[in-house]
Amino acid sequence: MIKDLWYKNAVIYNLSLATYMDSDGDGIGDFQGLQRRLDYLQGLGVTCLWLGPFQPSPMKDDGYDISDYYNVDPRYGTLGDFVEFTHGCKQRGIRVIIDLVINHTSNEHPWFQSARKGPDSKYRDWYVWSDRKPENADQGMVFPGVQKSTWTYDRQARGWYFHRFYDFQPDLNTANPEVQAELLKIMGFWIELGVSGFRMDAVPFIIATKGPDVTRPEEQFDMLRTFREFVQWRQGDAMLLAEANVLPEDDMEYFGRDGDRMHMMFNFQVNQHLFYAMAAADAGPLVKALEATKPRPASAQWGCFLRNHDELDLGRLTDAQRATVFAAFGPEPGMQLYDRGIRRRLAPMLNGDQRRLELAYSLMFTLPGTPVIRYGDEIGMGDDLSLPERNCARTPMQWSDEPQGGFTKSDTPVLPVISGGAFGYQRINAAHQRRDPSSLLNWTERIIRMRKECPEIGWGDFRILDTNRPEVLAMRYDWRNNSVVVIHNLSDRPQDLSLVVHGEGKSPRLVNLLSEDHSDPDEDGRHDLVLEAYGYRWFRFGGLDYLLRRSEG
Ligand code: NOJ
Repeated sequence: MIKDLWYKNAVIYNLSLATYMDSDGDGIGDFQGLQRRLDYLQGLGVTCLWLGPFQPSPMKDDGYDISDYYNVDPRYGTLGDFVEFTHGCKQRGIRVIIDLVINHTSNEHPWFQSARKGPDSKYRDWYVWSDRKPENADQGMVFPGVQKSTWTYDRQARGWYFHRFYDFQPDLNTANPEVQAELLKIMGFWIELGVSGFRMDAVPFIIATKGPDVTRPEEQFDMLRTFREFVQWRQGDAMLLAEANVLPEDDMEYFGRDGDRMHMMFNFQVNQHLFYAMAAADAGPLVKALEATKPRPASAQWGCFLRNHDELDLGRLTDAQRATVFAAFGPEPGMQLYDRGIRRRLAPMLNGDQRRLELAYSLMFTLPGTPVIRYGDEIGMGDDLSLPERNCARTPMQWSDEPQGGFTKSDTPVLPVISGGAFGYQRINAAHQRRDPSSLLNWTERIIRMRKECPEIGWGDFRILDTNRPEVLAMRYDWRNNSVVVIHNLSDRPQDLSLVVHGEGKSPRLVNLLSEDHSDPDEDGRHDLVLEAYGYRWFRFGGLDYLLRRSEG
């Protein structure tokens, strides 16, 4: 396998322009503000930024309602600022991927405004219409409890239009060849401006058949190949990362059996079972999720994450498992959302306990895939449950203890900065944490550095090691005669284990990558280890030293 596949071992950092850094004092983050934070991001060690949508938008769904695909929302700057930004990233060796929101547009998009005017509009067939109210209009809502239907009557259009998401997000008729050509054009445009790929929003819905008579939508998987071929023709190393919360049995359809569809997908299966594992101190179901999502083409990769800008979706757990996670991490109704998930940030879920945060992140960084961090999680930011829906976990980045957390000079930030209490900017901010060697920020920087020095995790195959302790997850990765063993104690009690690790016939010495506490096998070749509550270990053994091997190219 050629090592050019950069996304196999990247460290991705997701941020939202609006709430990252405001440079002009209007209370809204912008590209020039972000530009000033590129050295911070480079110092943290991330290798790829994923930007949430920043195109012109009425902002009714955090920018996931786009009204012009070929521009930057003036609140964030100009196309010129965008190109300066991608250039700044390039100079620092950081790649940029951006959200590609093409399942739907905003209802304010000129295409939809034209389509509403009547059947003769050039854009009528760019959307999905029905003359009558479809029978399944009250089914398939993505935001149950908030979204009332998937079809809405439009008076001007004299018809019903389909919207998988909110009613202000009419679905594009993605089966229409004209629409498909336009979607490729959008990708080509941003590639030309310096991006390395796209986080593709809502992929199962983009490729689903749509229409008033569609009772069981079917995925048109060939469309994914068309997207991939196109981006790769335009730019050989471009990458597509799919948001597709699907069952493991469908994974290969999305990756393509020949590795010719999506380069990456978020591993929602593992994400949900990871939270269950932490809630129940039971690695069993997580191991099953890891095994179930193991098959993938050699060039494909998983995106591994803890929290993102949406709710923590627990819809794939059993009722009992979900109840366990709710009880542990989101017991109050106000912490839950859409009958399936938790809307909190990670740090408050774990009571701000740094041992547990380190455990969670250590797990995420060592799962098979490429880690994806959410901005603010590197300093353990909290949430504001007084804000509606998912906005509670989208508050501005807390840079310092200056007013508004140093995010803006304005008194009216786009969303309130968390102030006061355990997670307020006065206590939790990047400036303080930079100066404290034991802070979460400095820990995150160190663990990212170590993760980059463990390419086995991104490239290699994993095996689950037997520990005889359901509370402990032990994994081994092998790649090019080098091996890494990672062990995590999910429970709040110390665990002693006896581990057998075979290395070329004999049991090897395990070199601890995070401290001087190495482990030599006993006469029977077993490693006797004691992991403290929420303890974790990263070990290496094998032939060549990693740093030597690196020069192999
Ligand atoms: C998934 C995005 O992650 C979410 O934030 C958004 O609301 C929907 N897609 C609709 O675009």
